[in-house]
Amino acid sequence: MATKKGFKENIRKKAIELGASLVNFAPAARWEEYNEVAPAYRPKTIWGKVELSILRAGDHIVAAEDLYGGTYRLFERVYREHGITLTYADGRVPEALSEAIRPETKIVWIETPTNPLLQLVDIEAVAALCRDRDILLVVDSTFATPYLQKPLVLDADVVVHSTTKYINGHSDVVGGAVITSDRELFNTMAFYQNAAGAVPGPFDCWLTLRGIKTLAVRMKAHQENTMAIARYLWSHPFVESVSYPGLSDHPQHELERRQMSGFGGMVSFCIRGGNERRTRSLRI
Ligand SMILES: Cc1ncc(COP(=O)(O)O)c(C=O)c1O
Repeated sequence: MATKKGFKENIRKKAIELGASLVNFAPAARWEEYNEVAPAYRPKTIWGKVELSILRAGDHIVAAEDLYGGTYRLFERVYREHGITLTYADGRVPEALSEAIRPETKIVWIETPTNPLLQLVDIEAVAALCRDRDILLVVDSTFATPYLQKPLVLDADVVVHSTTKYINGHSDVVGGAVITSDRELFNTMAFYQNAAGAVPGPFDCWLTLRGIKTLAVRMKAHQENTMAIARYLWSHPFVESVSYPGLSDHPQHELERRQMSGFGGMVSFCIRGGNERRTRSLRI
């Protein structure tokens, strides 16, 4: 990874020049132009492809414990079968992730904001502890999108997105993307992708490029709507708690302001009372 630093520097410069949104996810034709490298993958296989191309039996992953269920399933039901071990720690506390690191740790995997609890992980702090130990930091930035968060600028090594959601935005494609600024890592993943065959169809790519053109306007509208819903829930007598990074009482509101340029369109909440009450209140 001798060229990694220069490569990242270049991306930072381009980011400043461009003033923003193309850094992590650019239309395919522009990826090379901006020195960004981003193999796109078929859905559901993306996470596996990032990691299986990098990891071997005996390697170890540290993952933040609030995770999309499908990622957890992949870790627990597939990776463990392949001899890869995992430790989960509270992603809100970088020291907890640091303590979980072992000599054989190759990857720290975080999601921010997380699914389902909308917790945030301090990307820059975790990147610093990974850099010291030559560990790759992978960030699932699906909930934030490249419009609101740029993990590579914050020194992450790899960013993954489900393009099924905001990036495509029309509910007519399932897909994903893996983005890195490390040329050597890119070559490893691209080789694996070519050899293993996880390649998206041209029409899906075309639909996704159509969708990304409206990402900015859609994200602004999602945010406005979500803020209104979060406030409504917050004041509702049946609701015990609301987790939305845009609410000033979110415990990581300050981190959100530092690392994201907006709050996003996802909110989670807990309903007061026991299970019965919860089930009844869900009957719409
Ligand atoms: C944070 C996060 N990452 C990844 C995924 C996986 O996306 P896909 O359904 O495109 O495989 C999801 C799906 O809900 C998600 O919420």
